[in-house]
Amino acid sequence: MSFPLYAPAEEHEMLREAVRALADEKIAPRAAEADEAEEFPWEVYKDLVAADFHAVHVPEEYGGSGADALATVIVIEEVARACASSSLIPAVNKLGTVPLLLSASEELKQRYLPPVARGDAMFSYALSEPEAGSDAASMKTRAVRDGDHYVLNGTKMWITNAGVSEYYTVMAVTDPDAGAKGISAFVVEKNDEGVSFGPKEKKLGIKASPTRQVRLDNVRIPADRMIGAPGTGFRTALATLDHTRITIAAQALGIAQGALDHAIRYVKERKQFGRPIADFQGLQFMLADMAMKLEAARQLTYAAAAKSELAMHGTPVKDLTFFSSAAKTAASDAAMEITTDAVQLFGGYGYTRDFPVERMMRDAKITQIYEGTNQIQRMVMARQLLK
Ligand code: CAA
Ligand code: FAD
Repeated sequence: MSFPLYAPAEEHEMLREAVRALADEKIAPRAAEADEAEEFPWEVYKDLVAADFHAVHVPEEYGGSGADALATVIVIEEVARACASSSLIPAVNKLGTVPLLLSASEELKQRYLPPVARGDAMFSYALSEPEAGSDAASMKTRAVRDGDHYVLNGTKMWITNAGVSEYYTVMAVTDPDAGAKGISAFVVEKNDEGVSFGPKEKKLGIKASPTRQVRLDNVRIPADRMIGAPGTGFRTALATLDHTRITIAAQALGIAQGALDHAIRYVKERKQFGRPIADFQGLQFMLADMAMKLEAARQLTYAAAAKSELAMHGTPVKDLTFFSSAAKTAASDAAMEITTDAVQLFGGYGYTRDFPVERMMRDAKITQIYEGTNQIQRMVMARQLLK
């Protein structure tokens, strides 16, 4: 009898080395500046595209490299180890396109996936609204059929990479009397008439990743831009998150690993009381706990990625929803604790922008909030346990 393994294969470790080399050489040196400037890191984007790490998950039949879910996790993890904002390039390209991979017509996939694979376009995901965050099904954005078209009106809030992405998966209400079953998903293009963007949100962290409103004012799009059948948009949106909460877990792991690596280097160099502070058992125990929490979260994330990969290829995986939420929660909670401890290990220097752990602690916080807050993840997990 053979069992599927989730441990990384040799190819996964080679991929990790390649991404880490690029991240150390080209991404890490730009991370502090990108954070300070609050500008999208276009140079990093170009480097990721040149190395083909910007959207590794896109299947080969759409011009991509067809990386599996674990490989995608490893890419995001390694980019996030250097710069959390930059890791949202491969992560959000996956988030924006999984609705198509799961539910779109072949024609729509052929039209929209190759430009993402080539690096000519990025893809964002627009579910949240000003009054509909955790309770996503209470959205107000409307799409009304008009002949061969739909006309969209509403405001999507907090959209990652809004303005820099060419394409948007937009969830909108097509039947207001049908609740969650009255929501449909569409592809909206940046250049569609009536699409505009709000100002960049002024954030605590991931400052080099623009977060903006996407405003839809009588946006008239062909009806064939609907993803799947009318009324299936909410299910597609949630099924997508089952796959992509794992990529946010990966981002959290990367941030935490970066902070741990910096902390280990620092405690060996910094001297107090006539010896390296690494000699103090109080700090050694902190490091041990940090590494233990990180590895536990990593194993859960890789197990979730293995399940995601099976599900993507049509095998029913009953506990994917649980594993995806559990991985995202465990990794993001671990990242917040580990980065906070890393700042502590740096003492006063850790509280300044002279060292990257300060940025990493600010960046870690978002992983507990987006793709569903960790309260919502616990609700999702509990529902799975009790149903
Ligand atoms: N896959 C497929 N379908 C699912 C599903 C899943 N994982 N979970 C639920 N559904 C289906 C249900 O079966 C139900 O359909 P039926 O009525 O046909 O059975 C329908 O979807 C509605 O489900 P619920 O009744 O459970 O819906 P709800 O409104 O009670 O709760 C929720 C849903 C879990 C709270 C959901 O709204 C949620 O996850 N909220 C958090 C929002 C969120 O995660 N936003 C992320 C935005 S993206 C982001 O933040 C980007 C970024 O990080 C960069
Ligand atoms: P609320 O839903 O108002 O929650 C407020 C508090 O109440 C939270 O602590 C929450 O956990 C708690 N709460 C709410 N309901 C419950 C409950 N039933 N039980 C227990 N506690 C509860 N969205 C997108 O669609 N696309 C994106 O690309 C995207 N990117 C983002 C980037 C950033 C930087 C940020 C900040 C957000 C992004 N989001 C995106 C939105 C994100 O998913 C939402 O912010 C998140 O789902 C929470 O919604 P909310 O902010 O409205 O908070």
